[in-house]
Amino acid sequence: MTALPGSAEGTAVTGLDSSPTEVRADLPPLTDTTRAECRELMARYPVPRSALLPMLHLVQSVQGYVSPEGIALCAQELGLTKAEVGAVATFYTMYKRRPTGRHLVSVCTNTLCAVLGGQRVYDRLSAELGVGHDQTTADGSVTLEHAECLAACDYAPVVTVDYEFYDQQDVESALELVAALRRGEKPPPTRGAPLTDFRGVSRQLAGLSQHADAVAAQAAVDGPSAGVPTLRGVRLAAERGESAPLMPTPAAAAWDPSHTADGASDVQGIPRQGGAGDGGTPGEQAADAEVAAADNPAERAGALSNHPDRPEPAGRAAADRDAGVEHPAEQAQSGSGTSIEREV
Ligand code: FES
Repeated sequence: MTALPGSAEGTAVTGLDSSPTEVRADLPPLTDTTRAECRELMARYPVPRSALLPMLHLVQSVQGYVSPEGIALCAQELGLTKAEVGAVATFYTMYKRRPTGRHLVSVCTNTLCAVLGGQRVYDRLSAELGVGHDQTTADGSVTLEHAECLAACDYAPVVTVDYEFYDQQDVESALELVAALRRGEKPPPTRGAPLTDFRGVSRQLAGLSQHADAVAAQAAVDGPSAGVPTLRGVRLAAERGESAPLMPTPAAAAWDPSHTADGASDVQGIPRQGGAGDGGTPGEQAADAEVAAADNPAERAGALSNHPDRPEPAGRAAADRDAGVEHPAEQAQSGSGTSIEREV
């Protein structure tokens, strides 16, 4: 999705700074309130221009797309050229260059969804609505687009409406979903917040609440979240007694090889194997030095997680780690391939 120099799209969102800005009478105006909200967003960042992305969402929430008027407003408030703002707006697919319908229907046609029917879903919706990619129905109810991976492959094929998920769709369910949208209904998404509309969710993406009151805002947060496919890996790990490597915790952060009385590492009561009192093996000493040299908490956490004396997660012993065995059960069964392969 690029705006070629000289194309209608490119001209619409950039334009020379000295050129007049088109103000469309058929769109809701960008008002003093919009400008005040832009400034509210700018005040959230140490450098005001960092607010450009939410400001573009804010413009979309008012006018349904990033209009030339919206580009000019952002440029004026941030002290940028319209070309600079346009360059950002044309880079991201979530910023629309033409007025969007009441709802944005995105059909994932990326690999996993495509092989499970996503392309069929897109093709049927396109035929039913009489529009192609990035086009809006004549009644203004729906803009259709095909999308790259929507990060919900475990629910393929996936459709989103205004970025809310409708999982495991087929042609019939997608047709019914779109028909309901065109009747003015808002079918509940499979997961996440209740459906609003494109302008409403754009306001949310700007970082400003789209909800009328605190109860409605909380209801959006409380929507259903992870489902069975998402949690399958967690369930398998629990069944096998596996867990993720330790994250830095107050207890882990308190552990420091340099804090032991004799200078030798001692991890949560487990004495170092290299010989207490001698500073450990060269590898252990190097790891100690790496921990000591860490400049910030993230570096320190990384150095600690690589330290040979670090605590082992449940279900994996140090001997397994050293032998490169990630799944003790795998070793016991002496099979080839991973546990996941066997499961599948
Ligand atoms: S391929 Fe469709 S959500 Fe990932």
